[in-house]
Formats: sequence, structure tokens, C-alpha cells
Amino acid sequence: MRISVNGKHLQIEAGERLVDVLNRSGAAIPQVCYHPQLGPIQTCDTCMVEVDGKLARACGTLATDGINVVTSSPRAGAAQREAFDRILSNHLLYCTVCDNSNGNCTVHNTTALLAIEHQEIPYQPKPYEVDLSNPFYRYDPDQCILCGRCVEACQNLQVNETLTINWEDPHPRVLWDGGAEIGESSCVSCGHCVTVCPCNALMEKSMLGEAGYFTSLPKAALDGMIDLVKGIEPEVGYDPIMKVSEVECAMRDSHTKRTKTVCTYCGVGCSYDIWTKGRHILKVEPEHGPANGVSTCIKGKFGWDYVNSPDRLTKPLIREGEKFREATWDEALNLVAHKFREIKAEHGPDALAFISSSKCTNEESYLMQKLARAVIGTNNMDNCSRYCQAPATTGLWRTVGYGGDSGSISDIEQASLVVIIGSNAAENHPVLATRVKRAHKLHGQKLIVSDLRKNEMAERADLFLRPRAGTDLFWLSAVTKYIFDNGLANQAFLDKWVNGVAEYRESLAPFTLEAASQRCGLPMETLATVARMIAEAPSVCILWAMGVTQHLMGSDTSTAISNLLLVTGNYMRPGTGAYPLRGHNNVQGASDHGAMPNFFPGYQKVDDPDIRAKFEKAWKVTLPAKPGLDNHLMIDAIHDGRLKSMYVFGEEMSLVDSNANYVSDALSKLDFFVMQEIFFSETCRFADVILPASPSLEKEGTFTSTERRIQRLYRAMDPLGESRPDWEIILDIANRLGANWSYNHPSKIYEEIAPLTPLMAGVTYERLEGYKSLQWPVAEDGTDQPLLYTKEFKFPDGKAKLFPVPWSEPSNQQDGEYDLHLNNGRLLEHFHEGNMTYRTEGIKSKTPCTFVEVSPELATERGIESGSWVQLTSPYGKVRAQAVVTARVHGKELYMPMNSVEEPVNRLTSSYTDKITHTPAYKETSVHLKLLGQNGQNPLPRTNSRFGHPTPQKGVEVERKWKRKDYSLPGNGLVQIKTGQQQT
Ligand code: SF4
Ligand code: SF4
Ligand code: SF4
Ligand code: FES
Repeated sequence: MRISVNGKHLQIEAGERLVDVLNRSGAAIPQVCYHPQLGPIQTCDTCMVEVDGKLARACGTLATDGINVVTSSPRAGAAQREAFDRILSNHLLYCTVCDNSNGNCTVHNTTALLAIEHQEIPYQPKPYEVDLSNPFYRYDPDQCILCGRCVEACQNLQVNETLTINWEDPHPRVLWDGGAEIGESSCVSCGHCVTVCPCNALMEKSMLGEAGYFTSLPKAALDGMIDLVKGIEPEVGYDPIMKVSEVECAMRDSHTKRTKTVCTYCGVGCSYDIWTKGRHILKVEPEHGPANGVSTCIKGKFGWDYVNSPDRLTKPLIREGEKFREATWDEALNLVAHKFREIKAEHGPDALAFISSSKCTNEESYLMQKLARAVIGTNNMDNCSRYCQAPATTGLWRTVGYGGDSGSISDIEQASLVVIIGSNAAENHPVLATRVKRAHKLHGQKLIVSDLRKNEMAERADLFLRPRAGTDLFWLSAVTKYIFDNGLANQAFLDKWVNGVAEYRESLAPFTLEAASQRCGLPMETLATVARMIAEAPSVCILWAMGVTQHLMGSDTSTAISNLLLVTGNYMRPGTGAYPLRGHNNVQGASDHGAMPNFFPGYQKVDDPDIRAKFEKAWKVTLPAKPGLDNHLMIDAIHDGRLKSMYVFGEEMSLVDSNANYVSDALSKLDFFVMQEIFFSETCRFADVILPASPSLEKEGTFTSTERRIQRLYRAMDPLGESRPDWEIILDIANRLGANWSYNHPSKIYEEIAPLTPLMAGVTYERLEGYKSLQWPVAEDGTDQPLLYTKEFKFPDGKAKLFPVPWSEPSNQQDGEYDLHLNNGRLLEHFHEGNMTYRTEGIKSKTPCTFVEVSPELATERGIESGSWVQLTSPYGKVRAQAVVTARVHGKELYMPMNSVEEPVNRLTSSYTDKITHTPAYKETSVHLKLLGQNGQNPLPRTNSRFGHPTPQKGVEVERKWKRKDYSLPGNGLVQIKTGQQQT
């Protein structure tokens, strides 16, 4: 198909928007409200062109075969200028003193593109105040051009549904919750709206007074300059005024640095440019991230103050009695090397253990495991995937072969049915959840959620199941049996691609709907509906997280999920597959790169002699053959006196491991304990030496997200004080122990990893440059696999396996004394215990402390109100917290988020674990609740988004603008022409 543009022929693809074709062709047309990731909003009318002789909005028109387009005819040009004139009536052009004038302001650039000299319609201020009530951004109605990008982003991309425009009002503006202050609305501070705003109406507060050379002038001086510009504009026109602004804008480049980085919080893998001026973070600008585009959540967009926190560790510390003293690097590293050598000589290499950080880079995990194995000679090496994801990995290894998400976020987006089990995705994987919310809202995707809590995804679901705690395996198996028994299995897929069908089907005999209904507390009809929805959906993705894995049967339930997908043929195609959502930004990468007791990088077994020989040859050492201790067994080994020394980096072990009192006791017994951290964490209290490390913004390397996506991060600023990147510290320790390593950059480390690791064979820094990424497995020629199993499963015969999993009861059932079930997890605003996020004041103001969610029925029974102080006691410890009474929890279920260092929920959790992986059964905790007093305020302040009242609508609803009496289509009042269907 082709079209004619200004007399030239252009090839087009079916379904392309005309504006995209024109942009591709290089025809410069204005387009103020259009953003490719939002789709056509059609509010600004600046993209008017002639199509077959009639005026049309290029953004709202589909390019169809044979059309004749003219972009700069007098009619089109007049219409474009008329439309833009209306925009300028809503916006004061004071670019030289505007913090948004950084070369990417759409209003500024369109003024230049259209060579606007004078405004026809004068600027008209709106009768509203600037709203500064959100801690992170401001809204200035006087600068708002009513393009609606923010509304579209909030309604249809983030799908928080906070923003609208009151088109019928004499003075329309953007509204939060229909007219609330921003700070008291449902806004979750994800920043989507701020990111897509084409001008300075919505701006990060961290930019204000900082971005420009003159923008920090006192308000009176600024107002004077603005008045001066207004005064001379009628005389001289905009051209010289814009030229001055462009000179000032160019000068800003000398103090503003834009660095691509990858988010350091969750496993979604958002990437973005971070703008810095020295150490001041001006803003986070997402746009090109392969996982996130313009999307972020509150943590990625605004949670960076910790980097400049005054309590960053900046010097090595050495314990002296009960205190620590500052030391030089030489002294601290020599002491570490000396003690490691001494302990190894006295007790053998297995008296030492190493824990790698899921917050740090792949290269750092690789070096840590190499230090443990090649320098010390032990496989006592682990990372925190043991606390969360190991059971999911096991379930996938058993059934399909690779221990990672079977596709990409784009597959989840295009699935016709998404099933979420035991995952609070909207809070824990916020950007990934937006893709489900969007597909569900706009594209007819169906959603089933199974959870103990009625979280946001459950609120949105077509079907919400609330099974009894710890019974997911039972209902999943019953649904699978029902599918078999009712002829709903995908027999052709099973015949061709799956082994073990008959044996597996036989193993399902106990899992009748009746039995499942009784054990799980779910109606049989509901289970049958779930089975039919899954079996009949053209494509299904199942997402799960800690609600599944942190149980005695975490591995088996993960296996049951994969079994169900196999029985219904939901692998090997786009829009299908298994998605265990990885928690930390690099928990996938830490395991991938060998920070495990039984695997070298790429899941190559340490007890396989051929594999070991390969690494021995490369590293020129003899390596230990026996798998080492995992982090659960390490704690037992300290208590038993077998383990004498540990080296932990970037891991708050004493709070995040289960049964925290038992773990803390163990850490206090170590002969020699090295912590490498950015803050003096709780775990540091037990250390003998503390080494100050650098966070992600101060170093280079790669992270691997939940999609198996490997991405590069670049250094945005130098390490603070004497802190150093973790890889440099590990290297220095190794060399003091005689390793003779010579890496001078993380890329050199990857040059060693790739040839040793078939899974990463083709990974190079060049192939990951900028926003490029690779999703493992990566072949030597650089071919990666965004969707796994397109040709076969990862078993010798290429077939998957159905793996029978029997039922066993959860560990910790309620009884007379411990009569309530306690669930726990993260909060949207904080990451885990909050070591990083509490250092952002705005986050702290929204969620200052932890709390316990209590159901309305339990609250009535026990006389509890929001704000009441309660004490929770389990067989392992006690915590105090204030109650929040909410219907998110039900009956005798309690929920406690993890965001507390003082009262960590893990004082209550046990040492029971998943039997295969030793992942703690965090979610199997029974407690006793004692009411301590009523005299507290609600621990969630009124400014928390959970108190807001969203205003869902289909988007910006531009048709309401078009119905206004004072609206006419620009271009001499021509009749509104029919445009293509909105493409979103
Ligand atoms: S939730 Fe808040 S920050 Fe996010 S897009 Fe909506 S209004 Fe903006
Ligand atoms: S605040 Fe919203 S409507 Fe106003 S200019 Fe910015 S994106 Fe457009
Ligand atoms: S969704 Fe996750 S990766 Fe993305 S910005 Fe938020 S915390 Fe970072
Ligand atoms: S770009 Fe705004 S209407 Fe097309």
C-alpha cells in the first residue's frame, strides 16, 4: 500500500496512523497532544493536514491505500497556526526562565516550528491556584494547555484513573479525583502524567529553580522578566525572544547530565534517563525503556533521595568492642583478607559463606561467587532468591526446562486471559500491572485473581477467588482435573509436546471439585468457571509471586501452575506462559550469574565434573565439588558452630530472613562478619568490618529483570565520599588473597562470563549499548529469546513434562492460642523494610510506618479501630503496630507490610521452609492479637492515595470538548470530518 505525501509516494503498513507515516517521512508537522505511546488524543488540532482535499487530524486518521496528503498547503498551515494560537492563549511563553526549557518542550518547539511571530488570541490566565500539595510534582493551571496527555496517561496507561478534564466548565482544567487537592487524591505519584506533559504545567519539584540559569531568581524578579517579555512581544515578535531562550537552553547542557540507568527497585526492569546537576537529581525521564516506555512507579520516578542521604556510609568501619571506628580502606581490606585466610586455615574453606546482593549487578554476583569458589574454595554461596523465587524456578525446571518467565511483558499484555495467583502486582510490580490493567480496561482481556487480600488487581478482576491460606495447590489441581475430565484439555498439544500425561492425570484423582471446595473454601461452581475460562481462552498467562512460593509447598504449587498451562496448551505461543514475577531488580541475575550453592553461572552444576573442569581451566584453580550451604542452612550452621565467617553485601539479612530473632542470634555468633552496604543497616550491627559501597547510580554493570531482560546501567555520578562500587571491593579482597584479578571495568568481567556460560554466550556490552537489551538465552551470534519454547521445550527430547505433585497441609495452622493467620508483603511506596525508600521524605510522608490490616468483622469482634495499638505474638517473637481496619482483608486474616526496621514482621515468621528449596514459609504464620490501646491516629495519613476516590473514564473524552459551543475545528469553520478509529 502507498500514499502520496506532498507529491511524493510513500509505502505504508496496514493500520498505520497517518501521523506516524508523516513522522517517518520527515514531513515536519506540529503535533502537540500526540504521543506515540499514548495514541491519538485529538485535543490540540495542531496536526491538521489536507487528506484528499479535506482537513483532517493526522493523528486521528488511519493511513489508507491511495490517499493524497498535503501537509503544508495554505489551508493546512492556517489551521495548524489557528490551533496553536488557541494553545498559546493557555500558556505564557517565558521559556528563558522556565525549568522545562531543555530542548524538549513541545510548546517551545512548536512555536519555533510554526515560526510564530505574534499571538492572535491573547493569553488568558485561569482562575485557579498552582497546586503544590503532592510532595513530588506541581500542577500550574495557568500553564496548562489542556492537551489531555496527562489524563490519557493516568486513565489508560497507568490506569489509576485519577485525572479528568472538566470540559464543560467555562475554565476547564485538569482535575484530581474530580476536584480534590493533588495531595489528598488517589494519585499514587507514579509520575506518568508529569513525564508526558508537553510543557511545564506538570513538573517535578526537583526541577524547579534548578534546571535553568535564571530559574532560581526570586519570584518578583521572575515576574518582572515575564512582564518584560510580554511587553516587548507585540513590538519585536517571538523570534528574538525564542532565540535568547535557545541560547540559555544550550548553556544548560554544560551543567545537566542525562544518564541511562535501570531501576534499582523491583524486577520489572524499568529503564530511564536520570538527569543530574552534580549530585542533585533533577528528574527521572522514562521514554525508551524496552519494558516500560514512559512508565514508572513512585519508587523509580521519585525514590532516589537515598543516594545523597547524609547517613550514607562513606568510610570503612571496624568494630572495637561495642562500637565502630573509621578505618582506611587498606586497613579494612587487609583485616578482611587476614581473617578469611586465618579462618580458612583453621577450620577449612567451608567455615566461610558468602551472600550476594539482588540489588547489585550481574558482574558483582559473578565476582562474589568466583571469590567464594575459586579463591576461598567453598560453594557456600547464595542470594535472596532463596527467600522468594527459588520455588517458582523449581516448578519451571521440572516441567518446561528454563527457570525464568516464559515470555515478555508484551505477552502478558496480549493474553486473552491473565490469571494472577498470590501476587499483589499493582503494588509490587506496578508497571507490569499497568499493562494488565490497560489490556483489561481497553482491550477486553479477562482477569482472574486468587489472593487472600482484595488488592487492586482483585478489585478489577472478572473473577476473584479467596481460597483458604496455603491451599492454592489444591484448587489448581482440581481445576486441572476438571479440565481433563470434561474433555477440555488441549489433547493435540499434549500428544505432540508433553510427556507423562497418563501418570499425571492419575495423580489428580484426589483433587475432585468437592474435595477442593471443602479444603479451599471455594464454591464448586466457581472452580468450574475458572476451569472453563482457562480452557476456553485463546491464550492464557499465569502470573504468581510470594503468595505461592513462600509456603511449605511453594515448589509444588509452582509446578501445579505450570502443569495447568501445559494441559491447556498455554506455552509456545505469544500471549501464553508462566510468569513468576521476580521481586528485586536483579534477583533473576544474581542466580543466573552463579550466586547459588549448587550452580556456576548459567545454572551449570558444581557437582558435574565436566562443568567443573571447564571452570577450573578458565580460573586456573581446583574447585570444590560438593554443593554448598544455602542461606537457610548457613544460619543453622552458625548455630551449630560449623560456620565461622560470612561476607554479605547489599542484603538486610537480619530483617528479611524469616524468624528474624533466630537469624540475628546466629549473626551475633559469627567469629568474623563482613558487611558491605550503603547504609548502616540493622544487619551491620552484627558486623566486624563494614565496607561502604556505591548504589546503582554510581557504577556501571548490568541487571536482569523478570523478563530475563539484561540491560546496562551507566554511572550518573561518582561514588560518594570513599565509597566504592561493590565489584571493585570484591576484586580488591580477592587480590589481597592472592587472586591476581585484573578487571578494570565491568565489561571485562562480562567478557569472562559469556564464553563460560552458554545461557549468556552472546551477551556483550556493545549489544547492550544504551537502551538495547537481550533476553536470555542469548546465542553466540547475539540472537535472544523474548518468548521461550517457540521451537521446543528445554529437555533432551524437546518435550515438556507433567510433574505430579501431591497435597500436604501447610505448616502453621491456627489453634486456640495463635488463632489468626498473618499474611505479609511489600507496599507500593516502600521497597521491603524501606532502607532506601524511607530516605525519600515524600514517600515517608505518605507512608510513615508499618501497620496491621484488620478486617471490619474482626475489628468489631475485638473492639479494634484504625489507629488502635495491637501486639502480635507468634511462637517466634512479638511486634507492636497500629491497626488499619479495611475490607482488603477478610475474617481472621491479618496483613502486615514489611516496611519497618523497628517492628519487622519477620520476628513473627517461622523457620519452616519449602521442602525442595528451603524458601521460608513466610506466608504460613499464625499469631495471637492483643489490643494494647485505642489512642492512636490512623497510621496511614489522610494524604495516602488509598483514601482517594478515583474517577474512571475512557480517557480524555475529547468528544466533550468538541461539543462545547465555543469550539470549532480550526481551518475556517470547516465541518468536523470523520477521523479514523482511535488507536490505543
Ligand atoms: S496516578 Fe498521579 S502521578 Fe500517576 S498519572 Fe495519575 S495523577 Fe499522575
Ligand atoms: S497538565 Fe496535562 S493537560 Fe495540562 S499541559 Fe500538561 S499534560 Fe496537557
Ligand atoms: S515498576 Fe519496578 S522497576 Fe519500574 S519504576 Fe517501579 S520499582 Fe522500578
Ligand atoms: S496531535 Fe493533537 S490533535 Fe493531532
